[in-house]
This record gives sequence, structure tokens and C-alpha cells, in this order.
Amino acid sequence: MAYPYQITSLEQYHNDYKKSVEDPESFWGAIAENFEWRKKWDKVLNWNFTEPKVEWFANARLNITENCIDRHLKTMADKPAIIWEPDNPEERTRTVTYARLHKRVCQFAQVLKNNGVKKGDRVCIYMGMVPELAYAVLGCARIGAIHSVIFGGFSAQSIADRLEDANVEFIVTCDGAYRGGKDISLKSIIDDALIGNKTVKRVIVYTRTRTPVSMIKGRDVWWEDEMLHAEDQLELNATFNFPAEEMDAEDPLFILYTSGSTGKPKGVVHSSAGYMVWTNYTFVNVFQYKPGDVFFCTADIGWITGHSYIVYGPLSAGATGVMFEGIPTWPTAGRFWDIVEKYKVNTLYTAPTAIRSLMSYGLDPLKGKDLSSLKVLGTVGEPINEEAWHWYDEHIGKKKCPIVDTWWQTETGGCLISNLAGVTPAKPSWASLPMPGVQPILVDEHGHEVTQKDEDGLVKGNLCIKAPWPGILRTTYGDHERYRTNYFATYENLYFTGDGAFKDAEGNFRITGRVDDVLNVSGHRIGTAEVENAINMHAGVVESAVVGFPHEVKGQGIYAYVIMNQKHGDDEQSKKDILQTVTRVIGAIAKPDKIQFVTGLPKTRSGKIMRRILRKIAEGETKNLGDTTTLLDPAVVEEIQKGKL
Ligand code: WT7
Repeated sequence: MAYPYQITSLEQYHNDYKKSVEDPESFWGAIAENFEWRKKWDKVLNWNFTEPKVEWFANARLNITENCIDRHLKTMADKPAIIWEPDNPEERTRTVTYARLHKRVCQFAQVLKNNGVKKGDRVCIYMGMVPELAYAVLGCARIGAIHSVIFGGFSAQSIADRLEDANVEFIVTCDGAYRGGKDISLKSIIDDALIGNKTVKRVIVYTRTRTPVSMIKGRDVWWEDEMLHAEDQLELNATFNFPAEEMDAEDPLFILYTSGSTGKPKGVVHSSAGYMVWTNYTFVNVFQYKPGDVFFCTADIGWITGHSYIVYGPLSAGATGVMFEGIPTWPTAGRFWDIVEKYKVNTLYTAPTAIRSLMSYGLDPLKGKDLSSLKVLGTVGEPINEEAWHWYDEHIGKKKCPIVDTWWQTETGGCLISNLAGVTPAKPSWASLPMPGVQPILVDEHGHEVTQKDEDGLVKGNLCIKAPWPGILRTTYGDHERYRTNYFATYENLYFTGDGAFKDAEGNFRITGRVDDVLNVSGHRIGTAEVENAINMHAGVVESAVVGFPHEVKGQGIYAYVIMNQKHGDDEQSKKDILQTVTRVIGAIAKPDKIQFVTGLPKTRSGKIMRRILRKIAEGETKNLGDTTTLLDPAVVEEIQKGKL
């Protein structure tokens, strides 16, 4: 299959961009012709950012799994869709062809049906990186159930909150998961999450680690038993087909929880048709995918990157993807390079934090590794520093592979700002140009467009987008008002990203990071308020304030200022207890890197914590802390500075 909508020259990029902005409906209408629809749309786009309402391909009917699987069966049934690399390199790998993927997804769709799952029901998926996770996701999509994948690093409490928010009745999990040689007992975490839960009726458990699990009668069933039964049922029809549910273009496809500036994660909701078109279009164009290429996205399916660029984008394009169960540094720091060599990977898509971590091992892990199959490199998740960019370029790409720096968010469904590999120019640490259909604008704090250049020739401001692209989130689950206030109320008629950015004279964008109270730790989004809530749950804590600080490997680290009550000591033991509390409440990914005990926090007379000052101290700034005259007790700043870690 050739991609008529693949941009192959800089000139075409500019032409397509222009068309997409001047007449989005005919631009995206033409692209949508390349998919399989049960019924075509009445109107390509309806929208307003005040209500807000966004509707792409109105009244079209489709099922995304027919686009990701069935339509490839005629021409590439035996082509690998997913090549799976286990955590332990000694264990055998698995290759899932499109034909096999079709069979397994149909089987699992039948399992879901047998267990009472219906269109529109929410199914929580909490699994390690095994092919069955992809079957579970696609099985949900096949019957029109809404999947809500939760990353395996989240705690029982986090799962419980998400189950409640989405009123979940069904869970798919594993007994355990392997990561870096460790065995993580996922089912027992689910069991903890279900204490007191009244809505979950069924838990389907896939066997991966054979760790002991408690199976509750009437609630828990084994994946393997259910799949065998479904196989018997489907074998009765010659094609082994489970007919896909016909969905409306705007029917929700999935929920994915992500952090914001409040204490409660929000359920980002993506639609069926717009998300499909967007992930496919960006996959094909950003990475310049060519039929036959082997694509390796190192993300976990628990994050949006895995949803969009392990599952939906590559599969809808009929691509071959590598799915990796483990981590980059186990059993050695050469693991990625072994995988690249073993499967002749053409495109490697990873995070700056992984690159920085691998850099720290020096060049030894690269010795003797054949990386000559690589054609394109990509990064995502956080700004990439120039040093890491050049290391990636020199030592991995051997200066022959374009690097795409893809800026996007859970909310955007797919890449919004990125160079197109080898087609539009790359600029180290710059995400560069917007994708067709994406209209970025930099505004000041009043929402006025910034046009004035700084002394360095750059325009600087808060990054907003002027109009919807097909992959934009449609709502936040169960709370449309939150959708409005979070994304469309800061600046009138604009989608606000929460990021700050620079723009150069050629129209390239450089993302500088979050301007709200959201941290980006190792490419994972963590709200400061969430971490504070977790710390404050510890019995000895009176109050806390959390900010980010520059961290060599993680990009940002978590710095917590904590006031303890008199009964509890401000000692190492208390620090450990606080870390344990955060692990319990959110998960180990949110553990502060530094905890500084203080006796007070810098507050305004109205009681607001001045985070700006705390941020500066955590960053190591000693002099210019800005205006401290409005503080209730300016002396507290000096004390905090003295105790800085
Ligand atoms: C935030 C979104 C996109 C999937 C992974 C993260 C930051 C993301 C880049 C980039 C600079 C980036 C932004 C954004 N970010 N990609 N290429 N350059 N910053 O998704 O968890 O929703 O986080 O990640 O700050 O707002 P997420």
C-alpha cells in the first residue's frame, strides 16, 4: 500500500499545510477517503471552542479494528504486525502476524462478550507489555467497549480512583509482569484496588509470571480458559470472525488518565474516527514510514505514546512494530541496541530520558552492535537537550538518520509539532514545524498573540492551538465542564497546552516546558498537587509544597518541602515513611527525589504558597528570588535557603 497522503518534499509540506489551514474540511475529507468506513460522513468538521464541541467526520460509521486489522488481511495476512521481545532475552520471542492478530482479537472480543461486556462499557486494562495487552485493547475496540489502560507502575489507590471515576465493571490484568528481571504482582495490586469496590463484576487474568494469585469465585476468571471457550465458539464459523461493532465516528474509543494542575487525574477521552485518522496520518508522515519498515517504539502501552504509536498508528498503516516487555538497561545497557540488531529495526522512537540514561554508560554498550538498519530516530515526552540530541545523532544514527523531535500530549492524540524525517529540516532541541492542520500561536498572559521578538530574535509565549485537529481530546470523562475550564477557558477561543515555547523567524517551535503546576519526570507527567496530597496523607506531615528541579537524567526531579508535626521527627526515617506513603498513594514514579524539612513555607498574606520562590531555591538560585516583599514572613525564605539539599 502506498500512502497518497505522505508528504515527500519540503515544498509539498508547505502546500499541504496551506491547504489544511485554508480548507480543513476538504483537506481532511480527502485523507479520510483512505480508510474503511461502514458509512461516510455527512460533514467533515463541526466545532466551537466556547461550548466547547469538536466533531470530526460527523455521522460516519466505522470500526477502528477493521482499519487496523481486517483491511490488511487480503494483502498481508502473513506479515508480522507485532514482534514481541520478552524482558528476559533468553526467553523465546513471539511474532504476531496480521492473520494471528485478527484471530486473537476476535477471540478476545468473544471473551468480552461472553463475560457480559457491551458497547460503551468501560474496561480497565492493567497489564505488562505482552501481546495480550494489545489483544485486550483491540478486543475492546472491536466490540465498542471503552478501554482505560492504567500503567503498571500505578498503585492500588490510583487504580481504585480511576475505577470509580469511570464506573468500571470489567478488568483485564495479568498475574504478574516482568520488568528488568523483577516480577511485579499486578493481580494482587488489583485485589487491593478492589477492596471496597462495588462496581467491578469481572476480572480476567492472563498468566505471565505464574506468581501465586487469589482467584475470587464468581468474579475472577483465567484468560486462557476464556480464550479456549471463545475459540470453540468462533471455530463454528469458517472465517473465525467476530463481527466488529459499528461505531459512530464520535463514539469514545478510550479513556486515558493524565495529571493536571489539580490533585485529581483527569480521564482524557479520544474518539474513534478522528483519533484513527490522526494517529495514522502522523505515523506515516512524521516517521516517513515505508511499507516493510520495522518500527520500534519503546514506550509502554500504559501511556499515550504506546496507544498511538505501538497500537493504533502503526497497525492502521499495516506496519510491523516491535513491542518490548523490558527496560533499556537490563540485563545490560546495550539492550536497545541488541533489539535493533536482532530485528533490523528501521525506526527507533524513544524518550530523551532513556537517551540520557544510556549516555551515562558511555560507549561500551554499543561496541560490536550492528545499528546499520536504522533509518529514522525519534524522541518524545520532554524537551531534548542538545547534548543528548548530538549523542543520539552521532552514536546511534551515525549522522545518517534524521531525528524527529515530536511534541505532543495525551490530549492531542498524536504529534502536533515535529519535523518530518528527512523531509523538513531538523534543528537540535527544536520540535520545529506544525503538522498540517495544526495552528500554533504564542500568547501572553492575557491571551494576546505575541509578535514582538526578544533580543535573541525569538518570539516567546504560552503555546496555544487555534483550531481543532482530528486527534484532539473530546471531553474529560464524566465532566465536560472540566474539559472547558482546563483547556479552553484560560484564553478565549484557544486550546491551551500548558507549555511555554519559543518561535524563530522560520516558524520553528522550541518547547521550553510546562508553565503550569505539572512536572515532567522522565517523560511522565505528574501534578505537583497530586504529590502534595499524597505526602500530606502521612500522619506526621502538617503541610508540603512540591516543585520541580533540573535533573540530569530525568529531565525534572521532584523536590518536596515538608513541615512535620512535633510528634514526628524530621529525620531519615520520616523521609522513608513519606516516600512509602507516596508509593502507596500514587506509585513509585511519583516519589520525590529530595525532601527538605522546613518549619514554614513562603506564603502571601492571603495564604497562597509562593511556588516561584521555592522553585528558584530548588533550582539552586541563591540571589534573584524575585519580589519577596508581599510575603507574610520573609525570614522563612532564608531558613529554607540555608537547608537546601
Ligand atoms: C507534555 C505532555 C506526548 C506523549 C508523551 C507525553 C512534554 C512532550 C515533547 C517534546 C518538549 C515535550 C510537554 C507536554 N513534551 N513531547 N518533543 N519536546 N516537550 O505525554 O504525559 O501527556 O505530557 O510532555 O510538556 O505538554 P504527556
